Amino acid sequence: MMVEGRKSIHGEWSSRWAFILAATGSAVGLGNIWKFPYITGENGGGAFVLVYLLCIAVIGIPVMMSEIMLGRRGRQSPINTMRTLAREEGRSGYWQLLGFVGVLTGFLILSFYSVIAGWALSYVVQAVSGLFEGVTAERSGEIFGELVSNPGVQLFWHTMFMGMTMFVVARGVREGLEKAVRLLMPALFILLLILVGYAMNSGGFAQGFHFLFDPDFSKITTEGVLTALGHAFFTLSLGMGAIMIYGSYLPENVSITRATFTVAIADTVVALLAGMAIFPIVFANSLEPGAGPGLIFQTLPVAFGAMPGGLIFGTLFFILLVFAAWSSAISIIEPVVAWLVESRGISRRRASMIAGTVTWALGIATILSFNLWSELKWMDKTIFDLLDYLTANIMLPLGGLLIALFAGWAMRSSNSRGELGLQQVSYRRWQLLIRYVTPIAIAIVFLNAIELI
Ligand code: TRP
Repeated sequence: MMVEGRKSIHGEWSSRWAFILAATGSAVGLGNIWKFPYITGENGGGAFVLVYLLCIAVIGIPVMMSEIMLGRRGRQSPINTMRTLAREEGRSGYWQLLGFVGVLTGFLILSFYSVIAGWALSYVVQAVSGLFEGVTAERSGEIFGELVSNPGVQLFWHTMFMGMTMFVVARGVREGLEKAVRLLMPALFILLLILVGYAMNSGGFAQGFHFLFDPDFSKITTEGVLTALGHAFFTLSLGMGAIMIYGSYLPENVSITRATFTVAIADTVVALLAGMAIFPIVFANSLEPGAGPGLIFQTLPVAFGAMPGGLIFGTLFFILLVFAAWSSAISIIEPVVAWLVESRGISRRRASMIAGTVTWALGIATILSFNLWSELKWMDKTIFDLLDYLTANIMLPLGGLLIALFAGWAMRSSNSRGELGLQQVSYRRWQLLIRYVTPIAIAIVFLNAIELI
């Protein structure tokens, strides 16, 4: 059964496409272009990519459908949505903890996400000033090194990026979020195609392709599988309520399944294109695939520095990367802002200010972890490494597990089926995945990671 007449106080998307664009804007971001290539490089390539694709298909897609469904049914911020739905289903009020953990996860993710987006901002300036022209791989590495070793410069760009994010979120669903993503997603896609075209002629294409798509299972570790699972959540923006809140603005008559597939496919294609653009350049220039978080910042300038029109393409690329990060950042902070508005009765502007300032302050720890605090380590991980690991590999899959359990088991079938609007056969298929496959797969990867099995 659908819930008739429940409306979000924050507004609604103007159409199905507006939702798909916004959700794609959320999904496609630094995760696809910055993170996917470097974790693929660190985890040995093809086998990791295959596990990642499998996680998207059997875990990411059913969880995304569930998140959108819960959001649309509850029509509030994740915390209040979970409270309302749990009550409606006669379940414990503790389910709203899912929303609270999501809010915390969002703060932590955005705190480092904004720092990396700040790197991209600073690369716009470097690209347009011609710094990359004819740059060697070695020089490009130095340029990146200068950036990360300088806390002041990073703080400046991190502040800029958080300011941009707060600005859009303060303006609300239609005015702010929708407009920002209309044009930029297609433009980014085209620029990636141009980069792949360049990479094809770079001399390293065969090797790059082989690295990405030829699975060598001896290279995959338990940790690698956990990273692939975590990244499936991260890249689809799942497990902390971002897609749930976007779902809460979704009009009643939109097919959740079709929207989910569109977003998941677009997201995957962008990640694979980014891989196909970057690894050929890595191999053509004898760079190290496992270079870590600096990978795209060290490799792409070499390509832009060598190609005709590189100044323009390079500048455009980093501008679009910033936009991709921007439309993702908005969705990371939106659940908190909506919750503050609902529960504290403050204005959207104030709520954005508060949430943004807290995130901004947290981000300083990430900045310092690349320089002054780089020796501050726990289990061989810096603060940035720990934040990334804790959020992507642990908190998001845990959130996803709870979402799966709620959607699959705590909710009455008649309710989930009505909201998803699926035919009997498709519904059974979704239910099989969300009840058994998704939770068991997440549990197995977790237990493996803590070396219990
Ligand atoms: N999916 C985005 C990316 O790949 C990041 C992101 C946006 C995100 N919203 C999220 C990650 C919510 C986790 C949870 O860049």
